[in-house]
Amino acid sequence: MEKIFVPPIKSQGIKTKLVGWINSNINGIEYKRWVEPFMGTGAVAFNVRPKTALLCDSNPHLINFYKSLQTKEISSGIVKSFLTEEGNNLLKSNGEHYYIVRDRFNKNGNPLDFLFLSRACFNGMMRFNKNGGFNVPFCRKPNRFAQALVTKISNQVEYISEIISYSDYTFLNQDFKETLKQINPSDLVYADPPYLGRHVDYFDSWSEEDEIALNNGLKNSNAKYILSTWLSNKYRTNNYIFSVWKDCRISTKEHFYHVGAKEDNRNAVYEAILSNFEMSDSIANSTMKKRIENNESQLTTKVKTYSTPVQMSLVLEEEKSAKLLK
Ligand SMILES: C[S@@+](CC[C@H](N)C(=O)[O-])C[C@H]1O[C@@H](n2cnc3c(N)ncnc32)[C@H](O)[C@@H]1O
Repeated sequence: MEKIFVPPIKSQGIKTKLVGWINSNINGIEYKRWVEPFMGTGAVAFNVRPKTALLCDSNPHLINFYKSLQTKEISSGIVKSFLTEEGNNLLKSNGEHYYIVRDRFNKNGNPLDFLFLSRACFNGMMRFNKNGGFNVPFCRKPNRFAQALVTKISNQVEYISEIISYSDYTFLNQDFKETLKQINPSDLVYADPPYLGRHVDYFDSWSEEDEIALNNGLKNSNAKYILSTWLSNKYRTNNYIFSVWKDCRISTKEHFYHVGAKEDNRNAVYEAILSNFEMSDSIANSTMKKRIENNESQLTTKVKTYSTPVQMSLVLEEEKSAKLLK
């Protein structure tokens, strides 16, 4: 398989592990422009490498970072000297410098500081408080920016700068509802919204109304679309797949797991990709639903509906087990 490119920015929703699967499912599909209403770190777009793309996100810092590469305000050379210097400051201060950069970033939003924080924070997470301030603590490794890592990050920046320079990409900081209005029928849309009822932060909250608005907007656009979502974990199955997205086709990694996988992968979240066209490895959603109802699915149990308080306590339990809550 072709080597997967990993972007310089990290985030908990990053899809580097899924791009091979997504790419193989859209092999041979024709489109004029690639559109991502939720580009996040850009992991999918920078691996698909379309010629023309509209890449959007409600998080201004992500868009600002990629725009700075596009205008060449930031280059791999600038990244290398910045991270070397700030990495030395971090080491000398025994980690305290992380909080100086975080305060500075929360005042001026500098894209180089954003990159530094993304690579020095706890678990490569991206979270913002209600005022939009980055609030993830330090990863507690003062020697975070050893020379090999700085070189690796500047190479990642170099790779993306190159792709952007020979492609026609537009980066927009906007809500997905604006992006939906800009979709043409000849586009191929990859939608990777926050997973409903899971992580929530200032730039990354998501409701049932949002999920329905996304579904309606995609349908009305008449474009081909793919949606990344979760199928199930040990607690529950994502029943929105079989309500809001019931008309779609679905591709799961079911056949990658052997019988008894439910027991072996207790903390796993199984992913699904939905589409409104025939992907090479997809079945109708209604067929998947029947498989689950007949207990034939190795990944999921029957869909259960929980009240909101029960659902929220399950989410907390899941987050604790994923060590996302400290
Ligand atoms: C699951 S992540 C996307 C991850 C991306 N595919 C990747 O590989 O990095 C979801 C993204 O949606 C963005 N987002 C959340 N709410 C949004 C909204 N209302 N409109 C546009 N983007 C939104 C978040 O900022 C986040 O970057």
